[in-house]
Amino acid sequence: MKKIIIDTDPGQDDALALMTAFGAKEQLLVLGVTCVAGNVPLDFTSVNALKICELSGVFDVPVFKGSATPLERKLVTAEHVHGKTGLDGTELRVREKEVEPTSAIDFIIECAEKYRDEKITICALGPLTNIARVLTKNPGVTGSIEEIVLMGGGFFEGGNITPAAEFNIYVDPEAAKIVLDSGVKITMLPLDVTHKTLVQRDFLENLRKSGKNSANEAAKLLDFFERYDVEKYGSQGGPLHDPNVIVYLLDPEIYEGKLVNVEIEVNSELTRGMTVVDWWNVTNRKPNAYYINNVKDDKFFEVVLNKVLSLEI
Ligand code: RIB
Ligand code: CA
Repeated sequence: MKKIIIDTDPGQDDALALMTAFGAKEQLLVLGVTCVAGNVPLDFTSVNALKICELSGVFDVPVFKGSATPLERKLVTAEHVHGKTGLDGTELRVREKEVEPTSAIDFIIECAEKYRDEKITICALGPLTNIARVLTKNPGVTGSIEEIVLMGGGFFEGGNITPAAEFNIYVDPEAAKIVLDSGVKITMLPLDVTHKTLVQRDFLENLRKSGKNSANEAAKLLDFFERYDVEKYGSQGGPLHDPNVIVYLLDPEIYEGKLVNVEIEVNSELTRGMTVVDWWNVTNRKPNAYYINNVKDDKFFEVVLNKVLSLEI
């Protein structure tokens, strides 16, 4: 059983990632959900995390608030993709759950100390501000982190918020640099792979006809979420980014990648947040990330569907 912390900025695709993790009870123990500002401000992402826990019938996983702004820069959000609430497409309400009083940063540090021997895996689905603040506040946590698996970056695919940068890295490039320089084992799921998991029509149909409220609401979330990218890319379906982090933990063998050096652009405004991937090893820079560029997309959707339909409600 892998002990994980999910750091997230829900976001409809984050929601599907959370639901996939909650449905994988035999393989994953979700110690907590830590929220960061990204797709929408922190006050929305934290409430959205509560909504997705309740939608999934999960009341025993604590939710924590982390960073409301990037380390140095002004927050950039993505309401144009996710809507004003960040979970547009549904009318979810929070009934019982509340955010914990402890900060996300202190919670992650406490978990690192508590599970020093067993190790924890951090699943990062948003800007890396919380993770960078943990590594800065208590560098010793690196000994407790088995791996950071993050959705972020892009190289062969270019960027999505600018021609050069993917959103999560763009929002807080200084945080991404701290994480990539930390020496922790890192697996990156960039646009190069998430643009190969385009929402499939039969996947949505299977969610809708399941008769489960959680699956039906998930389909409504995706209907709203994918409209922007379908229009932008002219594709049949929108890229389902964040669940790739969870599916990688469940079925790593459906992914392909390479251990390479990845550097983050933090100086140029033109290429701010660009992930410079030394894919062909043309520099002597030390490899610091397992960079994934391929996936068996049918298998990916099979796993997400199976786990979301495993939810009890
Ligand atoms: O670029 C896609 C990423 O940015 C996803 O994690 C999405 O939820 C947003 O956070
Ligand atoms: Ca996200």
